[in-house]
Amino acid sequence: MSNQNKTAHSIDNLYDSTELITQEVLMRYEQTPDPRLREIMLSLIKHIHGFAKEVKLTSKEWLFAMQYLEESGKWCSPGRNEFMIFSDALGLSMLTVTQDYPKPAHATEATLVGPFLLENAPEFAMGADISAGAAGTPMYAKGKILDIHGKPIPNVTIDVWHSDDRGLYDVQDDFDSNGTWARAVLKTDSSGEYHFWSVLPVDYPIPQDGTAIEMIKATSGRTMRPAHLHFRIQCDGHKPLVTHIFDKNSANLNNDAVFGVRPSLIADFIHHPKGMAPDGKNMERDFYTLNYDFILP
Ligand SMILES: [Fe+2]
Repeated sequence: MSNQNKTAHSIDNLYDSTELITQEVLMRYEQTPDPRLREIMLSLIKHIHGFAKEVKLTSKEWLFAMQYLEESGKWCSPGRNEFMIFSDALGLSMLTVTQDYPKPAHATEATLVGPFLLENAPEFAMGADISAGAAGTPMYAKGKILDIHGKPIPNVTIDVWHSDDRGLYDVQDDFDSNGTWARAVLKTDSSGEYHFWSVLPVDYPIPQDGTAIEMIKATSGRTMRPAHLHFRIQCDGHKPLVTHIFDKNSANLNNDAVFGVRPSLIADFIHHPKGMAPDGKNMERDFYTLNYDFILP
């Protein structure tokens, strides 16, 4: 008998018990040629079958889930991945980040990427105002990209993106007409230093208009994210770092809807009255500064 025709049990009793169904499915997927795919699929089948048996999942509930996933797909677009919000809210994103990036000695910790990263964001000159009209209190961020010996790493590409003072990202705000704001690619020189102006990010709820929010509201009820800046730091010779810097003054540091906070990533966003900013700019209104060095392992 060829592998393709092999069955674990006679067709007469194949569907007599849930256990026989699971055994039959596993036998077929054991034939997966790629070893890593085989490992993933066999484990996935064992766990989703086990889950369905444990909760005695009904056909009606499973149909609801399939329709819910179909609806979720409709909320996806460039810059908005609804399934990533599910992954984040279920803690799976942070679980994989933690497995992939064990806490590095003397280096900056990673955290989840979130649903709003855009590839090929516009490049700004170092020191520019990247807010591009976003509403909020001015914020000046600066720091260095260093190796674990404290030596500046040259020629680093930095993606930075964050919310405005309504707690919205550019991709949530009539993106087709308005384009990007509070989002940039910056490139360092040999000094390894970065600095830019933008607006202070604020605490925000995860998107209120999709399907993921329905799940959260029906379950944990925890929808808020503490104020943060997103960074992705890439250069030759080092593993890319995707992380956030969180505002120490946020009221939601212990309540992050997506489990992304790590103590080492909490920083002071310092308030200043109007006057001279660190880059010599004369500010006619209050502003904030952030000074944070990233250390790549
Ligand atoms: Fe975010």
